Amino acid sequence: MIEMRNIVKRFGTQTVLNDVNFTARDGEIFGLLGPSGAGKTTIINILTRQLYADGGSHSTGAEPFETGLMLDQDGLYARLTCAENLNVVADIYGMPRKKSIEALQSVGLGDAVKKTVQALSWGMRQRLALARAILHEPKVLFLDEPTSGLDPATARGIHQLILNLKEKGATVFLTTHNMDEAVKLCDRVALLHKGKIVENGAPSEICERHGAVKTVPDLESVFIKLTGAVLE
Ligand SMILES: Nc1ncnc2c1ncn2[C@@H]1O[C@H](COP(=O)(O)OP(=O)(O)O)[C@@H](O)[C@H]1O
Ligand SMILES: [Mg+2]
Repeated sequence: MIEMRNIVKRFGTQTVLNDVNFTARDGEIFGLLGPSGAGKTTIINILTRQLYADGGSHSTGAEPFETGLMLDQDGLYARLTCAENLNVVADIYGMPRKKSIEALQSVGLGDAVKKTVQALSWGMRQRLALARAILHEPKVLFLDEPTSGLDPATARGIHQLILNLKEKGATVFLTTHNMDEAVKLCDRVALLHKGKIVENGAPSEICERHGAVKTVPDLESVFIKLTGAVLE
């Protein structure tokens, strides 16, 4: 279970998280939805212990080595190949190096095993970063905007991969500002606006509570109704 209780975070005089509460259950895909600047990355940084909160409590229900994290493409070695990049990680976790190849195949980079990172497109790098996050088969996976900047086909591939990881029992915590992505993937979502959770629950439940009219859960209209803000 991933949990935050009464989390407050300030940067200088700015309060960027203001009494944040939510629970993500084991085995579900939980989505944190909000526009740019809402505080999504800060929440992941606190949960993965890269930042201290100024108040409140939190837990992930997993040890650090059982946790996977994809924040951005930082830390990829530009002059190493895809396989070499992942072998570094496999060695750190004491996993057999064949896991590197399996992880690359699972993100559709099976043909790029011997390509250097500097020769990859943005989308391929994004997928390599994802492969790095899942290589050690984490119980809990944090994905910060995993499909941002990807073309629709590549994004769909990543969606399928995330659903497969859930099938295998992983808990996935992802952030997005894409409502369609959230509705497609997430069992439950929390809507974040200016550091506050304004709603939380299954997408269909939330939409029902707020009288959204479309048959496909229309989270976007609910978000606009609650906050007056648009997602971007
Ligand atoms: N290290 C930092 N120092 C100062 N302000 C920060 C820092 N990191 C984030 N912020 C501010 O906190 C707010 C939330 O940022 P962030 O968590 O990155 O939002 P999101 O991921 O939803 O776009 C923004 O106003 C951002 O400018
Ligand atoms: Mg962010």
